[in-house]
Amino acid sequence: MVDVVDLRSDTVTRPSAGMRQAMAEAEVGDDVFGDDPTVLALQAEVAALLGFEAALFTPSGTMANQLALRLLANPGQELVCDQLAHVVRSESGAAAVFSGITTRTWRSTGGVVDVGAVAELISPNAGRYQVSTAAIALENTHNFSGGTVQPLESVRAVQQLGREHGLGLHLDGARLWNAHVATGLPLAELAAGFDTVSVCLSKGLGAPIGSLLVSSAERIEQAWFWRKRYGGAMRQVGLLAAAGRFALQNNLNRLAEDHARARRLAAELGNDPAGTQTNIVVLDVPDALAVSAAAREQGVWTSMVGPRALRLVTHLDVDDAGIDRAIEVLRPLLTAGR
Ligand SMILES: Cc1ncc(COP(=O)(O)O)c(C=O)c1O
Repeated sequence: MVDVVDLRSDTVTRPSAGMRQAMAEAEVGDDVFGDDPTVLALQAEVAALLGFEAALFTPSGTMANQLALRLLANPGQELVCDQLAHVVRSESGAAAVFSGITTRTWRSTGGVVDVGAVAELISPNAGRYQVSTAAIALENTHNFSGGTVQPLESVRAVQQLGREHGLGLHLDGARLWNAHVATGLPLAELAAGFDTVSVCLSKGLGAPIGSLLVSSAERIEQAWFWRKRYGGAMRQVGLLAAAGRFALQNNLNRLAEDHARARRLAAELGNDPAGTQTNIVVLDVPDALAVSAAAREQGVWTSMVGPRALRLVTHLDVDDAGIDRAIEVLRPLLTAGR
């Protein structure tokens, strides 16, 4: 039996003993009535951390993103975002189905937003018969481009453009924690200037479930309504919120270890380590499926983000020995395949 090194995603972590204990001991109440103390505490903590008035706990990052889009755009309007954004590529068409909105996308280099590309794409107040842009979504860090951090000046430029045209601004911050640890910038500075921000507890922070949407108190009040309609209102969910609070207290600063391991992987596998800013490495290979399958046979699990793009994600449950093993297995496969 080969020991598995699972680099498919930072979502594969299992709750630690300490986290499970925090869950077992959580004070709970019925959160549909708004009286689960642990959920209320988590929401208040995350809202404060990100510098917003209010937050809402959701079962997934997808739901947090989709609630945001529902709040920022009306049916028949459009969202603009990166062509590799999670909201458009990996949420099963939810924006179209739940919010009735269309999407147009810009291309970027390495996931980094360029205000010129956004300016070319947007079409606010497009008139009687055209589709009007209602919102812009950014992603920080950018998952499918290799965990890239959005430069603050680019974010500010897009926010200014959006404001000038009266557009809603959403940040998919599933891995905003990684951007915070990588740059040393306060979370509130990374989140500032957006109308809505989603963050996930179930990625690098190691919680089993849970995300939050943060925004103004007024928008979050509306989000309670939509979350119920989407089937995401839960009862004694303090059990899960306790895992999230534990994750924030114990697993935030250690993300730097994941980043260092990802840089080592990148360097050893022939990528420019400077291109690996956080915990995701994307390797350009002629046949990602073949490399992924061959590595899996030897116990190293990877994922694909395109036919030529192999993704390796470091996390809480992969240590230095796991990284050594991944390098040992992947290096010859890459040399043969490149
Ligand atoms: C950037 C980004 N946003 C949103 C999500 C959605 O999170 P969930 O899987 O909890 O729905 C993910 C999931 O990997 C993600 O990478």
